[in-house]
Amino acid sequence: MTKKNITLGLLGLGTVGGGLWDLIARNQGLVANRSDVSLSIKRVLVRDPAKPRAVQVPANVLTTNPADVLDDPEIDIVVELMGGVEPAHEYIVRALKAGKNVVTANKAVLATHGADVFEAAAAKNLQVGFEASVAGGIPLIRALASGLIANRIDDLVGILNGTTNFILTRMQEDRMAYDGALRIAQERGYAEPDPTLDVNGTDAAHKLTILAELVFQTRASVTDLRIEGIESLTLADCDAAKRLGYIVKLLAVAQRGTAADGSRTDELDLRVHPAFIRLTHPLANVRNEFNAIWLKGDAVGEMLFYGKGAGAEPTASAVLADIIEVARNPKAPNIWNPAKSVAHVDYDSPSRYYLRFPIYDRPGVIGFIATELGRHGVSISHAHADLVPLAAGAAKPAKGDALGEVQVVADATPEKPLREALAVIGASPLLSGKPIAIRIFD
Ligand SMILES: NC(=O)c1ccc[n+]([C@@H]2O[C@H](COP(=O)([O-])OP(=O)(O)OC[C@H]3O[C@@H](n4cnc5c(N)ncnc54)[C@H](OP(=O)(O)O)[C@@H]3O)[C@@H](O)[C@H]2O)c1
Repeated sequence: MTKKNITLGLLGLGTVGGGLWDLIARNQGLVANRSDVSLSIKRVLVRDPAKPRAVQVPANVLTTNPADVLDDPEIDIVVELMGGVEPAHEYIVRALKAGKNVVTANKAVLATHGADVFEAAAAKNLQVGFEASVAGGIPLIRALASGLIANRIDDLVGILNGTTNFILTRMQEDRMAYDGALRIAQERGYAEPDPTLDVNGTDAAHKLTILAELVFQTRASVTDLRIEGIESLTLADCDAAKRLGYIVKLLAVAQRGTAADGSRTDELDLRVHPAFIRLTHPLANVRNEFNAIWLKGDAVGEMLFYGKGAGAEPTASAVLADIIEVARNPKAPNIWNPAKSVAHVDYDSPSRYYLRFPIYDRPGVIGFIATELGRHGVSISHAHADLVPLAAGAAKPAKGDALGEVQVVADATPEKPLREALAVIGASPLLSGKPIAIRIFD
């Protein structure tokens, strides 16, 4: 077989770009033997060429001018590893219009402008590889698009964000408070200096819309999803989960609806939220910064994908796999078809819930909560009340009331009436804070 010499242009040389540079240098020979593709990196776009970097790159390779990568006729594949939506999206489309195949790890661009990117690719019969955009080093995208292509998948549940999984692991295994666990995640480089998009669930939601595209062959927008993060979780919630035989995880869930007779419908439920999952569930042992995806195919049955969802080399592993795939089959059709229908995401799958109500310890408060839940059709299977000890130096609550918490397990209910009940209860002067509702994923 004749060797294919492929010239790469990189946009970005940060965590993943640096990891890719190192991985190509280290495994170039191995990759060439396995694939008959020989790679060279011609130019790399950065913001600041003078910045000290973990990788040694010749000065004439670095550039601050995007045209040096996007308009160079010798560059075959543009590898976008800049992050953010703009100008990454603009540069990807420019590269495609200039006739170059593209590989990207950018879930934010694909979740918000995926249609646009794949329309530009289809117009020129070009490829866009995006394996690294979901679950980093886990080869999930290609598994869904080829290995599992013969299956109808009705249920997919993922732990898609390593930062939040690390924080939840520290809270539950070390009884560390949320703020302390987040600080350690930042010190170890698992969380960004601004961790908002990780902890509020947006990052997992971006990845879930990309998976929904592949699993359900339909397009969903992040704005259609129900998204909750982990910022409001406390050690009391973790203790309650343990007491009831569960563990708390931030889940990204993609499910088809279920009809009264148990058959599956075409309605879609796409959501990201913390959930109590049983200790025996395959996702319960996914600890620290690891990611995992559990799914059920109608032919293959249950499957679990597990591995590192981020980090320089795990992510570079997926990027390099895409580069080789695109180099070998530059004219293969894209996995992502731009001519899809738009998803109707409104299915409200019933669930059991753990509810926590921060209260003032006054007569009648428990009765009030039970009555309001009942009035909205939410029945209670378990309740627990505690006084909350005041933190050292904390100001005494208004009127000198003791603070308490009522924890409730609600029987299966759709989310809408539950939210209505919580809005009424949360507005009462008997409560000292906002009620919390966490799905129980049985
Ligand atoms: N980090 C991970 O573990 C991971 C995992 C999966 C997917 N991803 C995705 O991979 C992508 C890259 O992430 P990363 O962590 O490697 O990011 P990063 O460390 O912040 O690196 C970004 C790189 O892009 C360059 N850059 C950014 N904006 C630019 C601009 N406007 N013009 C020119 N250069 C620009 C930066 O240049 P300077 O170096 O000069 O600042 C830097 O080299 C993101 O889409 C991310 O979501 C990351």
